[in-house]
Amino acid sequence: MRALVLGAKSAIAQAIVERLDGYDFALAARDSEELAPFAADLRLKRSCAVELIEFDALDTDALERFPHKVHDQCGPFDLVVLVFGYLGDQRAAERDTTAMARSLNVNFTGAAIALSHLANYLEESGKAGGIIGICSVAGDRGRQSNYLYGAAKGGLAIFLQGLRNRLASTPVHVLTVKPGFVDTPMTQDLDGLFLVASPAKVADDIVRAYKKKKDVLYTPFFWRWIMLIIKLVPERVFKKLKL
Ligand SMILES: NC(=O)c1ccc[n+]([C@@H]2O[C@H](COP(=O)([O-])OP(=O)(O)OC[C@H]3O[C@@H](n4cnc5c(N)ncnc54)[C@H](OP(=O)(O)O)[C@@H]3O)[C@@H](O)[C@H]2O)c1
Repeated sequence: MRALVLGAKSAIAQAIVERLDGYDFALAARDSEELAPFAADLRLKRSCAVELIEFDALDTDALERFPHKVHDQCGPFDLVVLVFGYLGDQRAAERDTTAMARSLNVNFTGAAIALSHLANYLEESGKAGGIIGICSVAGDRGRQSNYLYGAAKGGLAIFLQGLRNRLASTPVHVLTVKPGFVDTPMTQDLDGLFLVASPAKVADDIVRAYKKKKDVLYTPFFWRWIMLIIKLVPERVFKKLKL
């Protein structure tokens, strides 16, 4: 078994990799050579094969060929873990087309196009496998502080739901992951965070949920209930909240 990890420099990605027993790895990222020390450590500790491969979600022209590039350079794979994402500055992006497009294109367009082609590859291989897609609780309801990112992540969650429906009669399982706040470089400069989880905790939940073939995971678990309450607030009240 080989797992392809997209956005492998993320601490969440690396915590997932450390918990996926029995897999070889294709670690995909921009400037993937920076992953050489992590890959060397992994080979030593786990006696597994680890290959590095260049991947940029914004290079949409390359995404159709990408599954075959991975196959040729790293070998066949049966699990795709999509971790990459981009938060950006919501206020700045409201007036900056380039920043707006980056948030939408990394988190939704690039993710959906990459996963479409990777899903075709997995389906055509006919083998048991899976797709794990990292979305966010921010995609469950639009808030003024992060609705560009939230819209893209919410779109990705709908995309994964459709993909799961399409692949339900195949041996390819699709898991949607909605983390709350996680202690990573993405959140290090943000104020007002609460109930912040470690990458290790989130990765434990993700690997357990994938093994149990769950469809949708909120991690940590209490975010399911927090988001349920948030979604129940009537819009006429919600629109006045400073969230
Ligand atoms: N941290 C949180 O509180 C939180 C909450 C909910 C969901 N999430 C989601 O969890 C995932 C992991 O995030 P994180 O917290 O670990 O943040 P992170 O450290 O900022 O990691 C994000 C990763 O995405 C990669 N990336 C960004 N743009 C890319 C592109 N165009 N092509 C390929 N890779 C790209 C980055 O690569 P470089 O290293 O090359 O920049 C980085 O490795 C993301 O999808 C994020 O949206 C995070």
